[in-house]
Amino acid sequence: MADTVLNDIGTYIRELFLAPDRALETALARAQEAKLPAIQVPADTGKLLTILVRLARARRILEIGALGGYSGIHLARALPSGGRLISLEASALHAEVARENLAQAGLADRAEVRLGKAIDLLPKLAEEDPFDLAFVDADKPSYPAYLDWCLRLVRPGGLIIADNALQNGRVADLDNTDEGVRGIDKMNRAAAANPRLDAIILPNRDGKDGLLIAFILETAV
Ligand code: SAH
Ligand code: DHB
Ligand code: MG
Repeated sequence: MADTVLNDIGTYIRELFLAPDRALETALARAQEAKLPAIQVPADTGKLLTILVRLARARRILEIGALGGYSGIHLARALPSGGRLISLEASALHAEVARENLAQAGLADRAEVRLGKAIDLLPKLAEEDPFDLAFVDADKPSYPAYLDWCLRLVRPGGLIIADNALQNGRVADLDNTDEGVRGIDKMNRAAAANPRLDAIILPNRDGKDGLLIAFILETAV
């Protein structure tokens, strides 16, 4: 019963707000063809990312975890001309597919995929211009470290967003010892306790998972 209602609501939202989209469909088909795991953000979450980029008037975006560029297309297409998405990706195959997909979406001029482990690439970004928005969606045990890096790299007034903040409710189970689950819980708690952040988790995937959305306050509190 509840599932039927959720399905109907999901269909209602998608039919109303998600128009057929050639670039996104091509990106999914190409990722499938290259046998990438189908673990991109849901389409409605992608749309939300696009809106958050616009709302934040973001000109520079950091993404950690590109996969095939599906979320990257949502992020980069909301950039103004001259804007930049830098997406970090550890898998050479994923990075290659992401570059192809961002190019076929007409975003090659503003989107860059850097190959390597994020933890190795992040320090170099500290020498570059600050970001307005970061989207974290890579290896879950590293989420606390990624939050710390985002706090260094994103400007006050910017946004830090992280996918998979609820993990099918497993984060709320303190007995769950999975390294990824504990990593995400640690990030959530650090975000909640940080006086520089105004943060919340917005459930997605029919409430099974969630997006952490953290605004970096502009004045010290
Ligand atoms: N944001 C993508 C989905 C990312 S899936 C989308 O919604 O379209 C997670 C990605 O993180 C995978 O491509 C995986 O290869 C990458 N990844 C895993 N560990 C990583 C690490 N240490 N550094 C950078 N990328 C990593
Ligand atoms: C899975 C989903 C994700 O959104 C992700 O970032 C990694 C893994 C999954 O369903 O396994
Ligand atoms: Mg994810």
